[in-house]
Amino acid sequence: MKDGTQSSGSLGNPPTKHGTPMPETHFTKSPLAVELEAGTHYACTCGKSAKFPFCDGSHKGSGLAPKKFELDEKKTVYLCRCGKSGNAPFCDGTHKAA
Ligand code: FES
Repeated sequence: MKDGTQSSGSLGNPPTKHGTPMPETHFTKSPLAVELEAGTHYACTCGKSAKFPFCDGSHKGSGLAPKKFELDEKKTVYLCRCGKSGNAPFCDGTHKAA
């Protein structure tokens, strides 16, 4: 998967802390717990990915890029789906006040 750029779109939904829109279908007050392999992963920041919260390349041409993160080992991570985490793409508990 490559970094790229596309428009943020005009989804009219609450912006994430990154200033990008998030489709209401993706906006929840709970993180997604997912077990991931060690390596490089890309979290969607445009809200258009069919594999949200992971990037599927749908951001291309938007001017946005996915949030790249690395894991040293296979583990369960909690990915932000409220768009307010200060530690994106990971949940920091902010959704409890969202
Ligand atoms: S950042 Fe959303 S599809 Fe890539």
